[in-house]
Amino acid sequence: MKEILIVGSGAREHSLVWKARQSSSVGNIYCAPGNPGIAEIAECIPIKATNVEQLAKFAKQQKIDLTIVGPEDPLAFGIVDHFKSQGLRIFGPSQQAAQIESSKIFAKNLMDEADLPTARYKTFKPKEQGEAEDYIECEEIPIVVKQDGLAAGKGAVVAESKSEAKKVAKEFLDIGIPIIIEEFLEGYEVSLIALCNGTQYFPLILSQDHKKAYDGDKGPNTGGLGVYAPLNFIGAEEAMKLYKIVTDPTLRALANKGIHFRGILYSNVMITKNGPKILEHNARFGDPECQTILPLYDGDLINLIENVLSSDFDQIPFKWNGKFGHCVVLASRGYPSNPETGKIIEGIEDAIKIPGVLIFQAGTKIENGKLVTSGGRVLCTVGIGDTLQEAAKRSYYAASKINFDGKHIRTDIGKQGLKFCNYDSEVDIV
Ligand code: AMP
Ligand code: GLY
Repeated sequence: MKEILIVGSGAREHSLVWKARQSSSVGNIYCAPGNPGIAEIAECIPIKATNVEQLAKFAKQQKIDLTIVGPEDPLAFGIVDHFKSQGLRIFGPSQQAAQIESSKIFAKNLMDEADLPTARYKTFKPKEQGEAEDYIECEEIPIVVKQDGLAAGKGAVVAESKSEAKKVAKEFLDIGIPIIIEEFLEGYEVSLIALCNGTQYFPLILSQDHKKAYDGDKGPNTGGLGVYAPLNFIGAEEAMKLYKIVTDPTLRALANKGIHFRGILYSNVMITKNGPKILEHNARFGDPECQTILPLYDGDLINLIENVLSSDFDQIPFKWNGKFGHCVVLASRGYPSNPETGKIIEGIEDAIKIPGVLIFQAGTKIENGKLVTSGGRVLCTVGIGDTLQEAAKRSYYAASKINFDGKHIRTDIGKQGLKFCNYDSEVDIV
């Protein structure tokens, strides 16, 4: 039986542990550092996800057969290179390959060199504030200002005025962070997630995240407040076309630079009236895409990853269960800028009893014997159903049963997909 280590502490990692538990070849599962929800189904180890050396020591001591990395920071710190240097088996890209997420400038330059579809852009270094302002002055609004480097999904600002764009650019440049200023793209977003080894990959079903804090795609960007999958308005053939336009050439462009990408390539794509355009690439599972998609995969997660690691792509079954997943994130008041914490969470026991519902925890901790909030995205409810409508009803019903002071959810997750369901009357998703 295999010993598994999963690195991270969010709802994404909770779902990875939950799915790995169902694998017939798995013995013990450890999660570092994990959270109280994960502790119910795995052994949590108090080592930070970024403490690469301690994690490798633990993996050696415990004779871990496979480590799966959830978040981006350990990848950017080189966890995969370090584990490999110690002879440890790990799934994730090298530090060099993870630059596709850890440096937006690297990613944009790669897209440029390989002529991949993306928004028109220009990059500016900290000393180039004047040039950045001149550029903004000549461009149309809205305009997007992005910081280079990792920002937990919150490093892009869509500025509605030139003065706002200049202010944001100055804030980043003043603290020494290079920026990208890019054209605002109109359309709808799609998440493409592929398990890759070099230029070969296994594509997951398409999903759609909701990044903005409030209903109607208003407010600041967040890490993502809800996802549904698959997308009922994009057929399987169309979906494969998207992977061919986005994932194939990206992996080839990396290979041409001598970079072998082994791990997850998650591309956030805007479907515009001029076709798909890549907004960004990530080197890991999307969160909350992961917790929405994994329950729809009927195959064995550990076998899947093992097959990808050994390039046995022919062995991987396309085992989707034909159901829909719908995920609602319960966030804290003040998220994303200043989330309140320490609020008592109630109702999980009732919510978990609802048929077709899964609950994955993220920003939670135990304080004085009680489960309390400890971060911006607290937990998520995932509804599984034969239709998107059924899945949405389940996740929203579960979300209504769970309470904490300042609970914030978006009430329009899946709106675009729900328009395509066969309704006699108005869509009622709450
Ligand atoms: P990123 O961190 O680059 O994925 O950006 C986060 C979010 O900002 C995306 O999911 C989009 O909602 C929005 N965004 C980023 N770039 C653009 C763009 N060029 N045009 C419109 N929206 C964008
Ligand atoms: N779903 C957004 C992210 O994982 O960055």
